[in-house]
Amino acid sequence: MVGEKGKKEAATLVVKEFEEVLSDARIIGVGTGSTVSIIVDLLVSQGMLDDKIVVPSSIDTAMKLSSKGIAVTDPMTVETIDAYIDGADEVDPYGNMVKGRGAALLGEKMLAYKSRVNIFVVDESKIVDKLGSMKPVPIEVHRWMLRTVEKVVRDMGYDYSFRSGGKDGPVISDFCGVIMDLYTGPISDPYGLEDRLRSIPGLVETGLFLGYADYVVVGWDKGGGEVRKHSRSRGAGYNI
Ligand code: A5P
Repeated sequence: MVGEKGKKEAATLVVKEFEEVLSDARIIGVGTGSTVSIIVDLLVSQGMLDDKIVVPSSIDTAMKLSSKGIAVTDPMTVETIDAYIDGADEVDPYGNMVKGRGAALLGEKMLAYKSRVNIFVVDESKIVDKLGSMKPVPIEVHRWMLRTVEKVVRDMGYDYSFRSGGKDGPVISDFCGVIMDLYTGPISDPYGLEDRLRSIPGLVETGLFLGYADYVVVGWDKGGGEVRKHSRSRGAGYNI
C-alpha cells in the first residue's frame, strides 16, 4: 500500500530522534490513526510510556492504549501536555495540515493546543504544496446546524459529503458532532477559510491544523526520512 513503508520509517525516526523529548516529558498526548498505532507499539515495546501520564485524543486511541496495559488520563484533568504526537492527512511546506480522516479532529486539536511540543508524523505521500490538493477538509458540525452549514458551503462553491461508514447515517464523532468532508481543491488562503468556517455557530471544528506543528517527521518510502522544524503560532508553546 502507498505510504506504508514511509509510515514505518517515520515512526521509527520519531522514536529515535525524540527519545530525549519523550523521556523528559511527564505528560504525553497521543493522537489517532494508523501512524500513531505504529508509534504506540514502538513506545510500548521500549517501555517509553511507563511511568508517564498518557492522554489520548480519541476513544479509539484510549482503547488501543488500554489494550496494551497503558492507563490513560482524561484530557479534562490536564492543563498542559509536555509532548503530543500525531499523524496527518496532508502537510504543506509551512507545517500546516489537514487532519481528521479518523474523525478525531476536535480531540486532536484540543490536545495539540494544550501541548508544549507538537510532533506530527507522516509518510512522504502526505506532503503537498497546498492543503486540500489531495484530501477533503473534514469539519465537525453540531446537528442543529447541518442544513445551514450545507447551504453555506454550497454557497462557497464547495462539494461536500456527510462522512459515512460502519453504521446507518453519518459518522458521529466522540463529541457527538456530525463529520462532513469538504472538497475544496487546493486552498490558497487556509487561514481565511478556517476563519470563515469557524465563524458559523455550531461548526465546532475544522480539520485545518494551522500553526500547530513544532516538528513534522517525514518518512520516505525508499527508507529513512527527515525532521522538519516549523514555527509554531498556536497553543501552549506560544501563548499560554
Ligand atoms: C484522525 O482523525 C486523523 O487526524 C489522523 O491523525 C490522520 O488522518 C492520519 O491518519 P493515518 O496515520 O492513519 O494516516
